[in-house]
Amino acid sequence: MEVVILAAGKGTRMHSALPKVLHQIGGRPMLLRVLDAAVSLSPDAIHVVVGVGAERAIAIAEEAYPDAGINWVTQKEQLGTGHAVREALPGLKQSDADNSVLILLGDVPLITRSTLQQVIDHCGPEQVSLLTSRVSLPEGFGRIIRNRDGDVAAIVEELDASPEQKRINEVNSGIMAVSALRLRAWLDALDTGNNQGEYYLTDIVAMAHADEVRIRATVVDETEVIGVNNKSQLAFLERHYQMGIANTLLEQGVTLLDPARLDVRGDVDCGRDVQIDVNVVLEGQVRLGDGVTVGANCVIKDSTIGTGTKILAGTHIEGAEIGKQISIGPMARIRPGTVLGDGCKIGNFVETKNAVIGEGSKANHLAYIGDAVIGDDCNIGAGAVFCNYDGANKHQTRLGNHVFVGSNSVLIAPVTLEDNAFVAAGSSVSSDVPAGSLAVARVKQRNVPGWKRPRKK
Ligand code: UD1
Ligand code: MG
Repeated sequence: MEVVILAAGKGTRMHSALPKVLHQIGGRPMLLRVLDAAVSLSPDAIHVVVGVGAERAIAIAEEAYPDAGINWVTQKEQLGTGHAVREALPGLKQSDADNSVLILLGDVPLITRSTLQQVIDHCGPEQVSLLTSRVSLPEGFGRIIRNRDGDVAAIVEELDASPEQKRINEVNSGIMAVSALRLRAWLDALDTGNNQGEYYLTDIVAMAHADEVRIRATVVDETEVIGVNNKSQLAFLERHYQMGIANTLLEQGVTLLDPARLDVRGDVDCGRDVQIDVNVVLEGQVRLGDGVTVGANCVIKDSTIGTGTKILAGTHIEGAEIGKQISIGPMARIRPGTVLGDGCKIGNFVETKNAVIGEGSKANHLAYIGDAVIGDDCNIGAGAVFCNYDGANKHQTRLGNHVFVGSNSVLIAPVTLEDNAFVAAGSSVSSDVPAGSLAVARVKQRNVPGWKRPRKK
């Protein structure tokens, strides 16, 4: 069995500069989702027909599947789905009677491995196997025409359908498995005598019927086979996909304050008694340990959050390793390379980047901590800024244990504050502070008695 994925179309109805198959569902380009399903079947070969935006599609797919040996086929002119498959034929490895070609559409992204396996299993030698669905709103799909015996006899496209045919609610998913031997002859016989002037792949079904070839239809739930031709279908499918993820999390025991207001764009792994408030976005690989709570409007990307940690509302976390029993936010920004030790506290309007912060240390308000290594039980006061950038290079600030940085201080890297160092509020620290020392680095206060205020001229 070989797979052909059709992904060359312009996607005119998307009104976008991005090729249609690169639009995302759950943060993953549709083409990659289709490839995921294709690869999971371990076919003899995968051929992908690309055209509009081919370079981008190839780059994205090759990055995701560098070893899949995908055979890229360029369809210069988009003359229809039948033409697209025909372009892929010269690259097929086998075309004898025992082989089948599984045709997938790049714009039908939520297809599962098990459904595809059924389609393949239903395609015997020199047969055709279709995947169809009975839908409430068949508009836009090809309709499945059955004869009096209930056998599939043809597929009629929306624009070519009679009013009577338009009422048929069994539609073509576009996915089919076809005997490789027969496919070639049928494709060669296609013409463009239809209302779109295209070579329709779907026309091979009537040819198969005329040739008395067995056509089996596997009927599945509509959500698995819904195609994306416009932004409203993209949005519909996205919501459907998200509701599926939310339901899986609920089944696993995660508390979702509103399952309709969680978005997962990647993989999330939750421990026991995790609670997620509304409007949370989880991206990439996210692991939430036991008892983690995530407040409203948080974005967490590619991060691990330890047991019992509380992420308060409006917090953004990316590329971070967060320990246990920590409180972060509200409205904190934890950037890549942040590692927080157990029991830390990061308060509102604190930004961290490339910062390893030891157990029990605190930065409760308004601070920037970049390129830092901070020991245990330190206290970073409000308004403290780690000046890590000299305009050309980044430098590191190092703090031992029990260091106290007074409010509104700047630590000018590279600089080291040893254990128990204490920085007076408002200091600009540019030299190292020895253990147990107080650093006062600010202009001394001068009071002018009886000072006259300036007057308006
Ligand atoms: C197609 C089917 C329709 C089915 C629907 C399911 C045909 C003629 N119609 O219609 O029966 O109900 O899918 O979603 O097959 N493509 C190419 N080259 C082309 C044209 C299209 O590679 O020349 C690719 C597109 O990138 C897309 C896929 O084929 O991924 C389907 O094309 P599209 O134009 O979306 O067909 P539909 O109108 O959706
Ligand atoms: Mg389509």
